[in-house]
Amino acid sequence: MREHVTSARERALTVGLVPTMGALHEGHGALMRRARDENGFVVATIFVNPTQFDRPDDFQKYPRNLETDLAFCERLGVGAVFAPDAKEMYPGDLHQKKPLASVDVAGVSSRLEGEFRPGHFRGVATVVAKLFNIIPADRAYFGEKDAQQLAVIQKMAADLNFPVTVVPVPTVREPDGLAMSSRNQRLTTEQRRVAPLLYQALCEAERLIQNGASSAAEIKQVAMAEMSRNPGFRIQYLEAVDPATFEPLVQITGAVRLVAAVWLGEVRLIDNILVNRP
Ligand code: PAJ
Repeated sequence: MREHVTSARERALTVGLVPTMGALHEGHGALMRRARDENGFVVATIFVNPTQFDRPDDFQKYPRNLETDLAFCERLGVGAVFAPDAKEMYPGDLHQKKPLASVDVAGVSSRLEGEFRPGHFRGVATVVAKLFNIIPADRAYFGEKDAQQLAVIQKMAADLNFPVTVVPVPTVREPDGLAMSSRNQRLTTEQRRVAPLLYQALCEAERLIQNGASSAAEIKQVAMAEMSRNPGFRIQYLEAVDPATFEPLVQITGAVRLVAAVWLGEVRLIDNILVNRP
């Protein structure tokens, strides 16, 4: 990978990095297109990272289709794909739980996703730090779909002086509003039909804020009520948070990120929107 990057640099090309776990869709495609637009050479990575999964069944059932993914990357003008196996990324037997050096991003990692998925952000920050070192890119592209992950990575890159610019890319949605996600493949037809209610509830909360509401409790209550219209949803959290720290807000005065996680059957969905209170 270093040779690929060095050879691109020798041709005076900048390098854009797009880390993924595969099962690629148009959300990943948006990251790749942006990387293509802004760099001469794009590297994508495909690695279902075992250390960031908090539930073994989620890891086992995570969709994998390398051949299709490689064709997708080629179509989008990706110059090189790094698709290691777990042994290459983590030499030694992971199952022996050998201690590994890891990256902890204090603060932002501890809330919401970090609270409900213990160890998740340590796994993410550590694998992304490894990828940043393996592929020394000028820019790295991450989706706002995973806004808290993006905040963790931005803080890691800043605090640890990684010489890479982290570029956020807006969430790509299906025509009915559902945020694209590899896990959507695991929804039944009926679950897929009701899934857009998650985004609708966030939009309902946004409308309230645009109309002047400022109490986070009131906004949350309305969004929760909207989602409870379908009994299939089990809401894990729905919060109005500070966009940088993910600290819950009580009073909304300016920029706020509305974030939610729900269970729909066996599938966990997350979504978020950024709202600026007028
Ligand atoms: P994965 O879920 O495959 O997502 C890879 C990248 O695509 C992430 O930056 C994610 O935010 C972005 N993405 C996913 N769905 C999107 C959508 N609908 N719109 C815009 N961007 C979207 O996130 C991971 O993998 C992993 O945690 C990883 C960063 C690769 C570390 O293992």
